[in-house]
Amino acid sequence: MNIPKPNLVSSLATEHSGSALDLDAAAVLDPDTYVTGAPFEALARLRAESPVHPVSLPGLPKSWLLTRHTDVRTVSRDTETFTSSRGNTLVEVEMSPTSAMLPGIDPPRHVQVRKLINQGFTARNVTRLEPHMRKVARDIVANITEKGEFDAVPDISAEMSLQVIADVLGVPPEDRMDVFRWSNAIGSLGIEDPDYAPTPEALGQASAEMFRYCAELVEDRRKHGLKDDILSALLVAEVDGEKLNRDQLNEFFLLLAIAGNETTRNTLSHGILALSEHPEQRALLARDPSAIPRAVEELLRWSTPVMHFRRTVTTDVELGGHHIPAGDWVLIHYLSANRDEDVFERADEFDVTREDAGHAAFGGGGTHFCLGAQLARLELRVLLEELYPNVPGLAVTGAPDRLRSSFFHGIKRLPCTTGAA
Ligand code: HEM
Repeated sequence: MNIPKPNLVSSLATEHSGSALDLDAAAVLDPDTYVTGAPFEALARLRAESPVHPVSLPGLPKSWLLTRHTDVRTVSRDTETFTSSRGNTLVEVEMSPTSAMLPGIDPPRHVQVRKLINQGFTARNVTRLEPHMRKVARDIVANITEKGEFDAVPDISAEMSLQVIADVLGVPPEDRMDVFRWSNAIGSLGIEDPDYAPTPEALGQASAEMFRYCAELVEDRRKHGLKDDILSALLVAEVDGEKLNRDQLNEFFLLLAIAGNETTRNTLSHGILALSEHPEQRALLARDPSAIPRAVEELLRWSTPVMHFRRTVTTDVELGGHHIPAGDWVLIHYLSANRDEDVFERADEFDVTREDAGHAAFGGGGTHFCLGAQLARLELRVLLEELYPNVPGLAVTGAPDRLRSSFFHGIKRLPCTTGAA
């Protein structure tokens, strides 16, 4: 199965002429940049002056960094010209034709494979998970209230996302920290943040452990009967009249564990940070729950936990006045799209009352649009509904410890207080 082999960090450094815009693009792709915060000024300059910017990544195909919302949408929706089957990140990979890794499959097969789990993620079906989510959120509130001082990443963000994805996948709650560890190691591609995966070998080990674990869960379902979880649904699912094989089950498990863990977690952490910096907006959420659904969209726009994805050009194409030949890579930058002044007024201001103008946190639309969007929205809403009305003084007390990654916009530690000294 296709677990991308990690590049060495240094090989992601761009080769450039030294022009100001080349330096901006290099900063955008350099994981080190993000340790001190995302390069919003560089992204703004690129959007204004070179929204389709050429970048050279040593040993990799010629790439183009796309920073405008409109181009992110165009590429996302045109799967014929921009294929996903040659990888989604800055790592070269050729997907196997039988892979079940949705982000790396093109239509028409993509539609078939996505159908296998689509049902579990419709708005109607995720609503069934709400009582469990609310219980988890209430337990989180009780725990931090008791502690007074705490780290919001493990105590709020990770706890919420892990409990929910564990419930969806059928992972017993006591095993959720293993999933957390594996998904951190694999999700950060094993290379970018030494806290999560000190060596490339750690990536291989994490995937091996996760697959062994998935096999145990499958064995349990086979022996003791199916349950009301996605894993059980996948065991009876068929593509082209055939059941999923072991590799395909592993791929689904890994995909959902990572996709459901890193993303919601980082949205929550960035959201708690932003709301701490804007106490008047926090107070609004505490007193008026009807403001929360809109706030959720702003948290998603603001945090954009998946910062970019990649596509490969299949036929020569014109984009932003550039001729881009087949075989080149395009990097669609969601974080930049979500700060695009042409789409969002006062794009650099955090405003939970903002009317959503179509953020790209779940992708730019089209066939790969985030499968878990409804689940994530519900999870974020339930957590905000429980958190701020019950802990209105919740505030960050120290600098966030940011993830070293140009792919996931992450926070590793976020010291907080409930404000009830
Ligand atoms: C705040 C939370 C989340 C964010 C910001 C997010 C973001 C994204 C993005 C940007 C994509 C790529 C879209 C594209 O290529 O057009 C994606 C795809 C995907 N997401 Fe999410 N995601 C979130 C939560 C979740 C959750 C909770 C799950 C499921 C448990 C999930 C499952 C997936 C899957 C399976 C795909 C691949 C879909 C496909 O290729 O057909 N995501 N997500």
